[in-house]
Amino acid sequence: MMRNSSADIRQSFLDFYHSKGHQILDSSSLVPDNDSTLLFTNAGMNQFKDVFLGIDQPKYFRATTCQRCIRAGGKHNDLENVGYTARHHTFFEMLGNFSFGDYFKRDAIKFAWELLTSKNWFGIPKEKLWITVYETDEESFNIWAHEINIPCNRIIRIGDDKGFPFVSDNFWQMGDTGPCGPCTEIFYDHGDHLSGGLPGSTEANGDRYIEIWNIVFIQFNRQSDGLMIPLSTPSVDTGMGLERIAAVLQCVHSNYDIDIFRALINATAVVIGSSNVSGIYIKSLRVISDHIRSCAFLIADGVLPSNEGRGYTLRRIIRRALRHGNIIGTKDTFFYKLVRPLIDIMGLTANHLRNKKSMIERIIKTEEEQFERTLERGLLLLDKELSRLTGDTLDGGVAFCLYDTYGFPLDLTIEVCYERNIKVDQIEFERLIEEQRYRARTYSSFNVDYSRIICVNHQSIFSGYEYIKQSSTVTALFRNGQSTEVINSGEEGIVFLNETPFYAESGGQIGDQGELIAYNMRFLVTDTQKYGPAIGHHGNISEGLLRVGDIVDANINKFRRLCISLNHSATHLLHAALLQVLGDHVSQKGSLVSDSSLRFDFFHFEPIKCNDIYQVEDIVNSQIRLNLPITAQMMDLETAKTKHSKFFLNKQYDKIVRVLSIGDVSSELCCGTHANQTGDIGLFRIMSETGISSGVRRIAAVTGEYAIDIMHQDVKIIRESASLLKSDRYRILDKIIALIKNNSQLEKELQQFKEQKAIQDSAVLCRYIVDVGGVKMLVKHLDNVEAKILRSMVDELKNKLGSVVVVLSASFKGKISLVVGVSKDLTDKVHACSIISMLINKIGGKGGGRDDIAMASGSNAASLPQALNDLSSWIATKLSFKIIE
Ligand code: SER
Repeated sequence: MMRNSSADIRQSFLDFYHSKGHQILDSSSLVPDNDSTLLFTNAGMNQFKDVFLGIDQPKYFRATTCQRCIRAGGKHNDLENVGYTARHHTFFEMLGNFSFGDYFKRDAIKFAWELLTSKNWFGIPKEKLWITVYETDEESFNIWAHEINIPCNRIIRIGDDKGFPFVSDNFWQMGDTGPCGPCTEIFYDHGDHLSGGLPGSTEANGDRYIEIWNIVFIQFNRQSDGLMIPLSTPSVDTGMGLERIAAVLQCVHSNYDIDIFRALINATAVVIGSSNVSGIYIKSLRVISDHIRSCAFLIADGVLPSNEGRGYTLRRIIRRALRHGNIIGTKDTFFYKLVRPLIDIMGLTANHLRNKKSMIERIIKTEEEQFERTLERGLLLLDKELSRLTGDTLDGGVAFCLYDTYGFPLDLTIEVCYERNIKVDQIEFERLIEEQRYRARTYSSFNVDYSRIICVNHQSIFSGYEYIKQSSTVTALFRNGQSTEVINSGEEGIVFLNETPFYAESGGQIGDQGELIAYNMRFLVTDTQKYGPAIGHHGNISEGLLRVGDIVDANINKFRRLCISLNHSATHLLHAALLQVLGDHVSQKGSLVSDSSLRFDFFHFEPIKCNDIYQVEDIVNSQIRLNLPITAQMMDLETAKTKHSKFFLNKQYDKIVRVLSIGDVSSELCCGTHANQTGDIGLFRIMSETGISSGVRRIAAVTGEYAIDIMHQDVKIIRESASLLKSDRYRILDKIIALIKNNSQLEKELQQFKEQKAIQDSAVLCRYIVDVGGVKMLVKHLDNVEAKILRSMVDELKNKLGSVVVVLSASFKGKISLVVGVSKDLTDKVHACSIISMLINKIGGKGGGRDDIAMASGSNAASLPQALNDLSSWIATKLSFKIIE
C-alpha cells in the first residue's frame, strides 16, 4: 500500500504512467508560450495544443505530467469563490496522461481504473466510484460496462445539457474553437452525511459526489462556425486535480484539509502571530494560503504585478490576500514571509522557486507596502465622496471605481459606509463587475480559427549551421494563406523546401533573408518562419514562376546572417556577464537578435548603475579578445540540464537538445546560429539600459561593424562639438558645464529685468482705474506677458493703490493667463477666487487661489473681451449686496 501524502500521490501517478510507457515531462510555465490569447495555463493539455491539432509532431506518443495551473481571471475564474468553498483554488496541480494518436478509449479507461482501484496503487473501493459518459458515446459506455464490469446503473449518460449541441459536462472543449471531444468522468462519493445528488441530477452541485478525473477523447477540431472536423489522429487528454485526489486518499472532504493546506494554514497562522485557526479566521487563512501559491508561482514564471493583463490578475490576488490579512488583524507586511514555508511545503513542485526566493519575496513585499498606501488613498477618496453624498446610498459606480482603479476592496467600502449609516448600491457594483469579467473572458478565450492556420505535413531539414547555400526541392507553396501548385511572377507567397539553409525565426533570433533561384526564376525571401516542423520562406517572385517539385538554389544573405550570428553570441556573453555583475537572480525574460542590434530583457529590480554597465561591457569585450571557441553539441536533455546549461523552464524541449558553449564562460540550450569564436564579434557596445515593466530591465547593444560605425558617429559628434566650442575632446565637458552655468545666470538676470520692467509698466496701467460703487477697480488685457510677470504686476498694483480690485489678463504663446488681486480690506465683500471662477465659467480653462489672489489659464481667447466687459457690472452687484462667497 502506498503512502498517501500529496507528494507520494503526485509521484505515484507519474510512476504509474511511466510504467505504462509514458514519458514523464516537466510542467510547462503558467504563462503559455504557444498561445498569447490564453491568460494562464489552466489545464495539462495546454502545452500540447499544437500537437493535438496536428500542427506540431509529437516528441513522444505517450506522456504524463503534473501541470501547475491557474484558474483566476480569464475564462476559468475561480478567484471570488476561493475561501468560501471546499474545492476552489486559484492555483492547483493537474495530474494528466496523454496519448498523441497512440492508445485511445479502451486503454485510457483501463489505465485510470487500475490506478484508482488497484491495491498496489490508490486502492479506492470500487463502490465509491461513479462514472459519467457522453450520451452518444457507446464505445466508452461499453468499455465501462462490459470490460471494467461497472454495473450499468452506475454509468450515467450525460447529453447536451446546456442548451446547445456539444455543450455538455461530458463534451470537453479547449475554447470556442480548437481541439475537443467527448469525455468520461469519474466521481467519488464522499458519503451520505453530505448533501448532494448524482451527476446529471438537479442536486449535482452538492458536496457528496465529486468529480475526480476527466478523461477527454480529443476527436475534433471545432471551427468558428461550429463545424466539427474529425482529427486524423484522435488523442487522449486526462486531468485529475492533485488536491481533490489527495482529499479522497487522505479521507477528508475539503481540499483545505489535505496535508499541503494544513501545513500552509499553520504556517500562515505563525507568520500572522495567531494561534487561532478556526472560526471566523479559517476563511481568511484559507484564502491567504491558497493565494500565496498562485502569487509565488506566477512571479517565478515571470508575471509581475501591474495594471493590465496577467499582471493585473496577480495584483488582484495579492490584494485579496492582503485584505484577508487585514480582516484577521495583521498589523504589518506579512504575505511575503510565506514564500519560504511555501517552498518547503510544496516540495518538488516548488524546486524551481528556490533560487528565486528572495526575488519573489521582494516583489510581494513591495506590493504589500504599496497596498498600504492604496488603502490610505482609498479611504481619503471615499471620505470625500461621502462628504458630498446627498441621499443614503453610495453609487455602485463609485464603489466600482474605488475597487477597479484604486484597488480598494468592496467589503471595506461597505464597512466604512455602514459605520455612517450609508448603503452601497451593490447591484450596480455587481453589474459593472460582471461587465468587467466579460471583458476579461473575451480577452482570454482561445478565439483563433485554427482552420486558417497553415499546416504542412512534412519536415524541412535545416542545413544552415553548415551551409549558406543549398540546392533543394519545393515541397509546398502557399498564396493568400491557401495551398497552391504555382506562384506566378509578381505574386507573394510562402515557399517550403525539403532542406534549407534559411533560419526560421525562433529563440529571439529573426528569420533569414536571401533568394531562391532557378532557371529564369527569382524569389526574394524577405522573412523565414516556422510552421510546426516545416520552414516557410516568405517573399515574392521578381521574375518567372515557381511550382511544387521545382529544384531551386536557396541562398541566404550572407552578410546579414553573419551580423545576426555575432549578435546572438554576444547575447550569450551579455547574459553571463550580467549574472556575474548583478547576481544569480538575473534570468532571461526575452531577447531579440537581429542583424543591426541585440536586445536582452531580464529580471532585475532597479536601473543598473553606470559603473555596472561599464563592467558588463568590459567583461564581454575581454571575452571577445580572448577569442574563445564557440561550439555546439547535441546531447540528451537530462545531461544538458546537469551541465547547468541555461534553459527556459516554460519551454518543452526535445529529448536531444543543442547546447551552445562559449569557452567555459557560457552554456545555453540554443538552436540559433553563432559566430565560430568570440573574436569574430570584434566589439561590443551597450547602447541603452531601460526598464520595460516593473522588475524587468532591457539592454540594447551592438556588435561588429555596427559597433564600429556607432563609435565613428560618436567620435564625429565629439570632434564637431569640440570645434564649435573652440576646444579639444578633453575640455569639452568643462566647457559645456561652464556654458550651462552661464546660460542659467543669464536667464535669471533676464527674468529679473522683465519683472522690473513689468513694475514700471504697471504704473502706466493706473490710468485705467474706474470707480465701481466707491471701490477702485482696474481691468486690463495685455499682450505678450507671461503669467509669472502678470502676477508681479498685480502684486505691485495692489501695493501701490491700497484699496483696489485688479483683474489683469494676458496672452502669451497662444495661452490666456488671468490674475485677480483683491486688497485685504475688500475681501469681505468679494473674493479673488470667485472672480476667477466667474471668468473660467465664461472662457473655459482652470485655476483657483485665495480670497486676495487667484490665477487661471485658459485657451478660448475669443470670449475674453466680453467676459472682461461683463466683469464691472458683476462686481458692482457683488459690492452693493455685500455678498461673501
Ligand atoms: N483538459 C481536460 C480538463 O482540463 C482534461 O485534462 O479537464
